[in-house]
Amino acid sequence: MALRLGDIAPDFTAQSTEGTIHFYEWLGNSWGMIFSHPADFTPVCTTELGRTASLKSEFEKRGVKVIAVSVDPLESHSEWIKDINETQQTTVNFPMIADQDRQVAELYDMIHPNASEKATVRSVFVIGPDKKVKLTLTYPASTGRNFNEILRVIDSLQLTANYQVATPADWQAGEDCIVVPAVSTEDAIKKFPKGVTIVKPYLRTTPQPNL
Ligand code: BEZ
Repeated sequence: MALRLGDIAPDFTAQSTEGTIHFYEWLGNSWGMIFSHPADFTPVCTTELGRTASLKSEFEKRGVKVIAVSVDPLESHSEWIKDINETQQTTVNFPMIADQDRQVAELYDMIHPNASEKATVRSVFVIGPDKKVKLTLTYPASTGRNFNEILRVIDSLQLTANYQVATPADWQAGEDCIVVPAVSTEDAIKKFPKGVTIVKPYLRTTPQPNL
């Protein structure tokens, strides 16, 4: 069954390019992003994994550990990483799981048989420190993911977790946030010293609290 928001992300032990990974132990108390790609030595995936590597400091800044998955073997991942580093001018700096037995792919429902019987689709799961699934995304094999969007959602998730604010449509870091409905206007005024704008009783905005 597909994983849904709020579900507990499944734990697993798997082989990766950085050795055996016990997933929960590896995550510790961090946020995590586990993402799958269809196959090694494919063009779109090459750009995606290069892009992820080049965003290392952005993921680190947010306390997010990143791990990739595909059903190709370890030796193939290791060979392919050389190509990714060469063509994307980067150094792959996160583990890639060799999920030949499809254990992880099945736990996370990353194989969509009507798209491909054998390959994982482009799934993304963002996992909170409580091990719950906070974001799911599924892209087709032919469309590379927008990693700026993934970082934007992580920013929004972390603002909600830490400050009880939500983010409006097309929000970008630095723009005003929305006070979540669970916080009364009276409490919001105390909680957000930068000010609360009451557009409607249910639509209250405040400057991004962590700036
Ligand atoms: C790729 O990963 O590059 C890819 C896979 C399937 C179709 C098109 C592109």
